[in-house]
Amino acid sequence: MTEKAKNIVILISGAGSNMAALIRAAEEENWEASLGARVVAVISNKPGAEGLALAQALGVPTQVLDHKGFESRAAFDAALQTLIDAHQPALVVLAGFMRILTPDFVEHYAGLMVNVHPSLLPAFTGLNTHQRAIDAGCSEAGATVHLVTADLDHGQILAQAVVPVLPDDSASTLAARVLAQEHLMYPQAIKDFLRKLKPA
Ligand code: GAR
Repeated sequence: MTEKAKNIVILISGAGSNMAALIRAAEEENWEASLGARVVAVISNKPGAEGLALAQALGVPTQVLDHKGFESRAAFDAALQTLIDAHQPALVVLAGFMRILTPDFVEHYAGLMVNVHPSLLPAFTGLNTHQRAIDAGCSEAGATVHLVTADLDHGQILAQAVVPVLPDDSASTLAARVLAQEHLMYPQAIKDFLRKLKPA
């Protein structure tokens, strides 16, 4: 790998299934050869995140930065930025990273940070998206990959996946159907994004 490698840093807070889908796609499709890209680190703000062990099992180094050890959101984000930047990232991928980000942090990665959100944005920003889609009587739900901006869940849309809402759906059955599509859509959207990135 040359020094021009496009390093990808993934941020998680929980199960890390999107992170794992991304690492597996990068490995199986040999993104190093085809895109000059590689996943260099997985960082969690939660010490107990299940995704940490999963990342290690997939051969990617992990780091934990517990937000509870910081007095302010700004202090945590500044420390996180230092940790991320040590990897010289070309792309920061939020994969179930359940933090509201400060404007300075977002600005630092402007155009280079993506997120997957479990709704068809602009509908249902924020939390409890699946229950809200059911309660609203939606016939379709889904997920969105978007650029991260300071305005929560409002950045430029890069990809969307649509699934039906079935009559007997609960939030968890709908979430599982959407998540399966996230695992297909997110690696593909990141691949498309990397292709358009200028060399680091
Ligand atoms: C995913 O459904 C993702 O869309 C959602 O959290 C889940 C993480 O699952 N993200 C958000 O709600 C961000 N606001 P995972 O840890 O198994 O990838």
